[in-house]
Amino acid sequence: MAQKIILSGMQPTGRLHLGNYEGALKNWVALQQDYEMFCCIVDWHALTADYDKTELMPDRIFQVAVDYLSAGLDPERCSIFVQSHIKEHAELHLLFSMIIPIPWLERVPSYKEKATELGLDSYGFLGYPLLQAADILIYRADFVPVGKDQLPHIELTREVARRFNSLYGKVFPEPQGKLTKFAAIPGTDGRKMSKSYNNHITMGESPEDTGAKIKKMFTDPQKLRRNDPGRPDICPVYALQKIYNADYEELYAPCTTGELGCVQCKSKLIESLNDKLAPVRARRAELEAHPDTVYDILHQGADTARKRAVKTMALVRQAMHLA
Ligand code: TRP
Repeated sequence: MAQKIILSGMQPTGRLHLGNYEGALKNWVALQQDYEMFCCIVDWHALTADYDKTELMPDRIFQVAVDYLSAGLDPERCSIFVQSHIKEHAELHLLFSMIIPIPWLERVPSYKEKATELGLDSYGFLGYPLLQAADILIYRADFVPVGKDQLPHIELTREVARRFNSLYGKVFPEPQGKLTKFAAIPGTDGRKMSKSYNNHITMGESPEDTGAKIKKMFTDPQKLRRNDPGRPDICPVYALQKIYNADYEELYAPCTTGELGCVQCKSKLIESLNDKLAPVRARRAELEAHPDTVYDILHQGADTARKRAVKTMALVRQAMHLA
């Protein structure tokens, strides 16, 4: 039986952080063993918000590609490519825009939220999830690994596939979201790690900067002095210990009794986190020193992706009598 197809995408936000790594990339790296994978860096989507900062785009794309590869995505198993290199996404998006009623897009939850929050009002921003549907359907993907927040976009993608198929005959399978089990990882201030909160530690952060950021991290606000009893269950440092320190259970009791101070606890975290990330960081440094390797991988990835996208578009044009 042919391998099932996975399409995943991320906006080129620049260097990725531990939240991206734990919440998405590690999962993608595991999935590439069993699926044919397409990992898309969605630069057109990034324009919905950053259309006035396009000069930052080339470096942001490069950094995301470097982080994909340092996390362990293998170009032999997974086509890594830039969305705007495959013009077929734009054609499919345009054709979809003819058959999808505007209210379907207006009722996507992220639309109203972000429109108000970020003041976005462009035509392209309304079409954001439709472009995403094109990204997914053009590869006739079976699965899309996403966080919970993206499920409405996957549901819309399925509706788009159904509507197209009912008008023109079956071209598209209905893809399914593949939820990542991982809980959001806390940033240095205890909120969800996010670049926009500036509470993040990047994958390529130096050991020194990692140490400095963790030393400043929030802990249990009730543990003011070293010997005060702490509550590991609400402490963001402990949440990170659970992920990065194999001996995290040994820290629980001494924290609750006040035997273990935050400074000492943090230094254990710094050590194990830096240890765990050392191989990723070493790969990152190697790739950054050889940008041509990275660009070659993106071009090869685009060639593989394009072949599949071109085939789908032939089916689409034929089905719509545009061949
Ligand atoms: N909307 C996604 C996000 O913000 C990015 C994205 C664009 C995407 N196209 C996609 C994700 C296709 C998965 C599949 O994370």
